[in-house]
Parts: sequence; C-alpha cells; structure tokens
Amino acid sequence: MTPVSTTRRLEHVISSEQFDRESLDDIFARADALAGHRDTRLAGLIMATLFYEPSTRTRLSFESAMLRLGGAVVGTEAAREFSSVIKGETLEDTIRMVSSYADVIVLRHDQAGAAARAAAVASVPVVNAGDGPGEHPTQALLDLYTIRCERGSADGVHIAFCGDLRFGRTVHSLVQLLSLHPGVRMSFVAPEVVQVGADLQARLAAAGVPFLLTDRLDDVISSVDVVYQTRVQKERFTDLTDFEAARRAIRIDAEVMRKLPQKAIVMHPLPRVDEIATEVDSDPRAAYFRQARNGVAVRMAVLDLLLG
Ligand code: NCD
Repeated sequence: MTPVSTTRRLEHVISSEQFDRESLDDIFARADALAGHRDTRLAGLIMATLFYEPSTRTRLSFESAMLRLGGAVVGTEAAREFSSVIKGETLEDTIRMVSSYADVIVLRHDQAGAAARAAAVASVPVVNAGDGPGEHPTQALLDLYTIRCERGSADGVHIAFCGDLRFGRTVHSLVQLLSLHPGVRMSFVAPEVVQVGADLQARLAAAGVPFLLTDRLDDVISSVDVVYQTRVQKERFTDLTDFEAARRAIRIDAEVMRKLPQKAIVMHPLPRVDEIATEVDSDPRAAYFRQARNGVAVRMAVLDLLLG
C-alpha cells in the first residue's frame, strides 16, 4: 500500500502500512487542534458504521467524532445477525449498497482482509475498524498519539507488548507504526501459544528494529517505558485449553507496578477482562482510560482527512 502524503487526502484507512512519519505528524497535529472542539466542517455528510463484531469504544468514538464535526451517522451493530448477511448477502454486495447511503464506511469484521475487500468495491472511503486477527489501524493511531502525549515522543521507547500477540490486531498495527520511530526497542512478552508471528518478526528484522521474545515479564519490566497489555482474544481460539493457558500467563498487578519504572506507563486498548488488576487503575502510570479518551480526537482527525 502506498504511504499517504500530506498533500493528498486519505482514500481509505486499511493498514498501518499506509502511514509514514509525515502523515502521522499531520494526523496528530489535526488531532491536537480538534481535541475538545466541535464544529460543522462535515455538515451534510453521513458516516455508516458496519460492525460484524462487538465494539463499544471504537464504534462510539467514531460516532462521537463524526457528530462533533457536524456530520451524521447511520449504522448497524451486530451486522452478522441484524443485516442482510443473515440472508446470505456477500460483504462486497453490502458495501456496494452502503456506498450509496453514506460518504464514509467504518467497518469491523471477523475476517482478516475484509477491509481491503470492502475498499476494492466501495465508491466511498472505507475505514478498517478491526478485521479479525489482522489490523486495527485507527487504534494504533490513537495508541501512538497517547505515547506522544504521555511521553513527548515515541522515539527511543522500549515497549513491552504483553498478552495475545498472535491474534491481537491492535498489536500488529501499533508495531508497524512504532517501527517508523528511531531507537524503538520491542519486547514481546507472551507464552508460545500466543507469541507474535514469524511474518511480523521477519518484518521487524528487515526494518532493523531490535526485539526480543520472552514469556516472563520480569525479564524486561525494570527497563520498559511502555507496557502494552492486551486481552487474550478468546473468540479466535479453536482450542479452549490453549486459551485457558494463555489467559493466565501475564497479569499486571500491584506487584508488577512496584517493579515498573516511575516514568513508565501502562496501556491497554480495552476492553480488559482480568489481565490488569483493578488495583492498578488509581496508579498515575495507568494510562488506559486516557488512551481511550484520545480515540475521539484521533478519529476526528482521520474523518477530517478522509472527508474534509
Ligand atoms: C480491541 C479490538 O477490538 O481489537 N478493542 C478496541 O478496539 N479498543 C482489543 C480487544 O478487543 O481486545
């Protein structure tokens, strides 16, 4: 996919691979300017949300972002049950139809590659709001924006990705964006069954990004700047014994927080189950609710770039 440039509007948002440093700076400058504001720049335009998988934050923050820019929203959640999919309609046909009802389509789907398939037939911009175990590029944008807000810059950070690195699409997208930053080091902390895939490791090696794989948070906790914890993605497992083994492996609690440097932060795309103990929430280093809040401004910036 060709990187977007600041001189060209975004056409679709499908993968983190579309972004370069210049386009990221542009999106974050727009997010800074739009945060907390409301205006009418997208008045008369309609955003359709088409969600084939559950969501709270992504769908509502996209809807809130569109409404704050003066646009309107139509949509279906639980699209698998409540749309014509149940009658056997293909994704392609659905997208062709929705293209004539809305000016932008925000799509969440359970299959990797679904957003790219949608973009291939859509006559309006498509935003990938999560495609199965594939990618979740706007989550990665808000994650990176959060690291910048919390730490000033993502350059040189040591980040520990924890939890489900195999099926966790937010990890796949954020790894790509962070690999554009000089001096970044990545530790992948997970049991074998949910460790990061060989393809992603090969991409990091090719990009010259130093990384290590471990199943022990203790190996890295005292030197990390960012802990990025994730939920083990139960819905992607065919073998529930694998899921149970993975689920208990890495947990952030008060004891882990005692070993974490004072200037470090803990992130999580949410929803959490029990992989971060609630006792951590009151620690100022717990950044996950601030991270979720950043979703609105970043998605305003993305909609502005697509439609403005
Ligand atoms: C994530 C997702 O859907 O991939 N949630 C989100 O969008 N904030 C993470 C998850 O479901 O565990």
